[in-house]
Amino acid sequence: MLSVTPKIELHLHLEGAAPPAFIRGLAKEKRLDIAGIFDARGHYQYKDFWDFLKVYEAATSVLKSPEDYARLTLAVLEESAASGVVYSETFLSPDFCGGRDIGAWREYLHAIREAADQAERTMGITLRGIITCIRHFGPEKAREVARCAADTAGDWIVGFGIAGDEKVLTPKDYLWSFDCAREAGLRLTAHAGEWGGPQSVRDAVNDLGVERIGHGVRAIEDLALVDELAERGIVLEVCPGSNVALGLYPDWRSHPIGQLYDRGVKVTVSTDDPPFFHTTMTREFDELNRAFDWDDGVFANLNRTALDAAFCDADTRARIGKLLET
Ligand code: ADE
Ligand code: ZN
Repeated sequence: MLSVTPKIELHLHLEGAAPPAFIRGLAKEKRLDIAGIFDARGHYQYKDFWDFLKVYEAATSVLKSPEDYARLTLAVLEESAASGVVYSETFLSPDFCGGRDIGAWREYLHAIREAADQAERTMGITLRGIITCIRHFGPEKAREVARCAADTAGDWIVGFGIAGDEKVLTPKDYLWSFDCAREAGLRLTAHAGEWGGPQSVRDAVNDLGVERIGHGVRAIEDLALVDELAERGIVLEVCPGSNVALGLYPDWRSHPIGQLYDRGVKVTVSTDDPPFFHTTMTREFDELNRAFDWDDGVFANLNRTALDAAFCDADTRARIGKLLET
């Protein structure tokens, strides 16, 4: 068992981090019937990744107001802080927060930020937002999401990305949205190399110009690409527990994060959608320690890589850096 080290997390979907009891409570308050998404023990249940996306959207459907998102933010940050996370970046989707209407999105964002400020004061965890379009909702909606992103880019909304079904269309189909976000000063990341192979990672890096990849683990199937990622300093937001839970790899020891790290790729560790995958940042570190015999020195490297790759401003990075030194 490793000591409780301060942790940096770069890849966390806010709705995907919603504790099932929280979602059930909201559904009850609003008299909405989403019982089918839970198993007998009250956990989220799904058959595969595509079913997971449906269950995710059903759970999200009970979040109907800025106040709901404020409560969600506090519930999520409480869990993260309990794992020792001191800095987190979360994916936020105007598709779910106000239906891509810029005025409504601003209200949701205001509520989320107020909750995050409260968590920073009371729990010592700092949060920043990455606006995320959803690939299977299509390029037209992604453009509206990008406009919301450009309108609220700043010291809190620091990045833009894409999540959802990687098998739908190609990164190039979302080029307008990524260009719009880049021109607004946002840093870029894209989910790739999870359900798509190495070419999907290449396309995200070359066509969209992202500096980080969400997952990216399937790059291991093409060692020339692995070398290229290492040389170019592309950072992978690796979520091993998510990959194992969704059946991409049969167990932790088979996960390619060890090989990617050994080959010099900048890897970081995150939970993705922790309650869906029965994980926490503490569990990720413990399982990696067991699977690869990684010690505190390796985890300190991973944390440092994550902080260097964080999209926050220099003052925030320096402040969080001091927490890692203690
Ligand atoms: N949205 C939430 N979790 C995701 C994942 N693992 N892959 C793609 N989109 C997601
Ligand atoms: Zn993700």
